[in-house]
Amino acid sequence: MHISDSRTQVAIIGAGPAGLTLSHLLAAQGIDSVVVETRERDEIEGTIRAGILEQGTVDLLTSSGIDTRVLAEGTRHEGVELRFDGRGHRIDFTDLVGRSVWLYPQHEVLKDLIATRLSDNGRLHFGVSDVALDKVDTAEPEIAFTDRDGNRTRLRCDIVAGCDGSSGVSRNAFPEDVAQDHFRSYPFGWFGILTEAPPSAPELIYTHSERGFALISSRTPTVQRMYFQCDPQEAPADWSDARIWDELQTRVAGEDGFSLKEGRIFQRGVIPMRSYVRAPMRHGRLLLAGDAAHTVPPTGAKGLNLAMADVRVLAQALEGFFATREDRHLDAYGPTALRRVWRAQHFSYWMTSMLHTDPGAGAFDLQRQRGELDSLTSSRAGSTYLAEAYTGWPLSP
Ligand code: PHB
Repeated sequence: MHISDSRTQVAIIGAGPAGLTLSHLLAAQGIDSVVVETRERDEIEGTIRAGILEQGTVDLLTSSGIDTRVLAEGTRHEGVELRFDGRGHRIDFTDLVGRSVWLYPQHEVLKDLIATRLSDNGRLHFGVSDVALDKVDTAEPEIAFTDRDGNRTRLRCDIVAGCDGSSGVSRNAFPEDVAQDHFRSYPFGWFGILTEAPPSAPELIYTHSERGFALISSRTPTVQRMYFQCDPQEAPADWSDARIWDELQTRVAGEDGFSLKEGRIFQRGVIPMRSYVRAPMRHGRLLLAGDAAHTVPPTGAKGLNLAMADVRVLAQALEGFFATREDRHLDAYGPTALRRVWRAQHFSYWMTSMLHTDPGAGAFDLQRQRGELDSLTSSRAGSTYLAEAYTGWPLSP
């Protein structure tokens, strides 16, 4: 087979939020990169994904020259509601920490990033296959991939950035004796739906109930996203629309008479819940970022935001590396990024365990959880921790 040769400074595997943002930040520093992605552009832009952006993520998007519509088309959320015992308790982010979050779905972020990279003549290859990493523990690493027309390219580089998510190839390029995987699964999943309906509330509602957790979120003024805790093996096809609405309504019901606005359900699926961290985040010249290095359960809305925080640290490390050729810049990346990763792991785990009902839970466990939620919502100190973590810790300088 004919193999063409190419060269760049940073080969980026994966055109998700991490890979595309990294490529943009590097370009702004005059560092050349090439992004390769197995999915097609249409698929990436058309898959409706979650989107709670921390203040720092919005600041990064708007201040780094990305042509983003987040401020024009996103919705600012100045709080969330925690619902338990059939009543809502608002956590007011603006009052508690002077920060907020934005509802702006991930695929909209991706559209903005792709358009910006293309208008800056960034090299992006969609629809590639057979991505392989080679010689990542040398000073001359390379990756290889096959494009849509069957042509194979060998891309030599200085650095490989593994931004290809939890089922990508990058994390598998670490030798077994180097990789330490920290993993936890949860005995429940999330049954998620998209429905054609108006919003049921102005902000997100995280509900704890005897029947388990539920989350009321939104995508657009006419499309709503809702979830309820379920068995991880639950078969979505077993659930009629009426049964889904009944389950959701029961979990949010309460003395205040709150109920959800129902509509046609046009997408449903079960999402597993897990926590995962790969350490170290670097092997030689291969550095992982985003979901390739860690997974959080979705309860804290941290996944996308952690990916953005990683690449911000990574872009700075690479700027230092290319300016000096000193490995100490690469050495600093993982430990700096991991500090935030573990704080977010704790927050996501804490939100998950506070709000979900364990399959074996008894009356004690349920009352204890109510006690915790009561302490949190009736204390300014307790609420402030949630507000601080949810809106996001400041990005490291
Ligand atoms: C979502 O809108 O899909 C969403 C929002 C908040 C979360 C998780 C998912 O914590």
